[in-house]
Amino acid sequence: MRDQFLDSQVATNLIALGDPVLYEVHEMSRPEVAGELVQGISIVHPGRVGAEYFMTKGHFHTVLATGELYMCIQGQGMMVMETPDGDWAVEALRPGRVLYVPPGWAHRSVNTGASLDLVTVFAYPGNAGHDYGTIDRQGFRKIVVDRGGAPEVVDNPRWSAPKPGG
Ligand SMILES: [Fe+2]
Repeated sequence: MRDQFLDSQVATNLIALGDPVLYEVHEMSRPEVAGELVQGISIVHPGRVGAEYFMTKGHFHTVLATGELYMCIQGQGMMVMETPDGDWAVEALRPGRVLYVPPGWAHRSVNTGASLDLVTVFAYPGNAGHDYGTIDRQGFRKIVVDRGGAPEVVDNPRWSAPKPGG
C-alpha cells in the first residue's frame, strides 16, 4: 500500500513504526463461477497517512462486466471509483446507504471518520475476480484528503492515465 499514498515518505515511516493494519476483508468463499454471489464485510480502520485517509487498495474486477453491491453499516467514508477510460466518481458512504458499483468501475473505500471503523457489507458475482495490478500501476485518478478537518476530493498527481488497449 505504501506506493498508493501520496506521501510515501510518511507511509514508509508508519511502516517502520509498526506497520498498522489499514483494513480487513472477511468473506464467505463461494465457487468462482457466474451465478454465485461472494458476500462479506470490509472494515477500514480510521487514520491518515499525511493528509490522506486510510483506504483500501481498490481494484477492477478481472471480468470487467461484473458489478458489486455495498451497504455501509458503520462509519463515514467515500467510495472512489473510475473506469478504464478514466471517468471517475466519488460517492459518500454512511450507515444505511446502499451503493451500487456498476460493471467496469474500479472501486476503493476510504474512511474519512475521525475514530470509527468504516464497515461495509458487499456482494459480487463469484466469477468476478480481482485485478489489483492495474491500480498498482496507475493508482486512482482522485484521492481523498483531510483539509481543515473535512474530507476533500482532489486530483492524484501520481495518477497515470490508462494506456489505450491496456
Ligand atoms: Fe470488487
